[in-house]
Amino acid sequence: MSKEATLELEGKSYTLPTVTGTENEKAVDISSLRANSGYITLDEAYGNTGSCVSKITFIDGDKGILRYRGIPIEELADKSNFVETAYLIIYGNLPTRAQLKTFSDLLTENSFLPENMKFHFEGFPSTAHPMAILSAMINAASCFDEKVMRWQWGKVKEFEAIAAKLISQTRTIAAYSYRKSHGLPLIYPKKAYKFTENFLHMMFSMPYEDYEIKPEIAKALDLIFLLHADHEQNCSTSTVRMVASSQANLFASCSAGVCALWGPLHGGANQAVLEMLDEIHKTGDDGSKFIAAAKDKNSGKKLMGFGHRVYKNYDPRAKIIKKSCDEVLTKLHISDPLLDIAKHLEEAALKDSYFVERKLYPNVDFYSGIIMRAIGIPVEMFPVMFAIGRMPGWIANYKEIMDEPKSRICRPRQIYNGAALNHYVPIEGRK
Ligand code: CMC
Repeated sequence: MSKEATLELEGKSYTLPTVTGTENEKAVDISSLRANSGYITLDEAYGNTGSCVSKITFIDGDKGILRYRGIPIEELADKSNFVETAYLIIYGNLPTRAQLKTFSDLLTENSFLPENMKFHFEGFPSTAHPMAILSAMINAASCFDEKVMRWQWGKVKEFEAIAAKLISQTRTIAAYSYRKSHGLPLIYPKKAYKFTENFLHMMFSMPYEDYEIKPEIAKALDLIFLLHADHEQNCSTSTVRMVASSQANLFASCSAGVCALWGPLHGGANQAVLEMLDEIHKTGDDGSKFIAAAKDKNSGKKLMGFGHRVYKNYDPRAKIIKKSCDEVLTKLHISDPLLDIAKHLEEAALKDSYFVERKLYPNVDFYSGIIMRAIGIPVEMFPVMFAIGRMPGWIANYKEIMDEPKSRICRPRQIYNGAALNHYVPIEGRK
């Protein structure tokens, strides 16, 4: 069978090559179409457009499959941890003991922020959203390091330290943004703690008393980071790739990713889910009224934490998080009415023809907020947790562009449908 596609346009025939991925995903390569025919392809919101070829993450949205570098998310969730998975995602293989030690040491060495950077936190109002602080401070952090500012595109050895610094400092900035907004003194990371333990320490310790790190809490948060670590070409990752394609530095590219992640349709959905559950709880609704509103296009409401551009099946991350949610709440002896509402909503939606016909299932954000709330993380910090977790994925995508000798600046086209040729009219002649 021919592996080429044929396109008929205005009586002419064009042959277009096809590309097949490892898992038999198929694409028509249209990169030569405009030069040969004058036509571009139009696909607003990129629902059917592949923007790159990538080796990092595989998703089969119909079957509910997610794999990082070929390894199923279920195996990683069960056997790995965030730092090891971060290495896997960025470098393409599970680390040896020595590689893991080097990577962990780099994370530890790079976890501090420069002392004079702390003054920048003072400039934000106490009401500032931590995602605004995170994005601004990641970008600012690059100014405090000559290595980041002067790093040359493609210098791999230096890149390793810069990448570790970004993962580690993102966690420190995230904790500081929380401390700042709560009027609390900043707490330094401790060498003895692992990645996620250190985050909990920087968030919740007091100068006079260290926060007691419960292993079940550290494990649950580490799992949340791991499950968010990459998700192929979503809004924020594509943003990072777009910025990276101009050869902007890693910190600048990933700070753009934070901004893209912030919105309620993407990484801000975990915050929106909790706010939705809270609203349902406060109004005494069992979820039925909200579901009816979510189905009504004029209500302005959606069932947050439901639906996905790619998954037309249960999001595999949601399954893992739901189980973890039950375990954490049981171990901490917490009974949260919002969990009951969430379960009721899920049950009702999965039986409702509106959601069934549209293949809308719970996504990763549906239950993650309930775990984070149990840990004591305030709701506005939820998207920040997503950003900490997603950093390895953004870095891996950045590296993939950097390592590709033929990579070009991303520059989509458009179809212009504004005014035809028009002319300047002096102000006195304007109506
Ligand atoms: N509640 C009610 N209706 C919905 C929802 C929802 N959560 N999601 C989609 N729909 C409807 C949508 O209105 C459309 O209806 P119709 O066919 O009648 O016009 C239909 O379902 C198909 O929607 P779609 O084209 O599949 O949606 P999309 O791909 O443009 O958007 C989405 C995907 C995730 C933005 C959307 O499902 C949504 O807004 N969900 C709620 C926000 C959310 O949970 N976001 C987190 C996504 S997972 C984390 C991440 O990776 O970012």
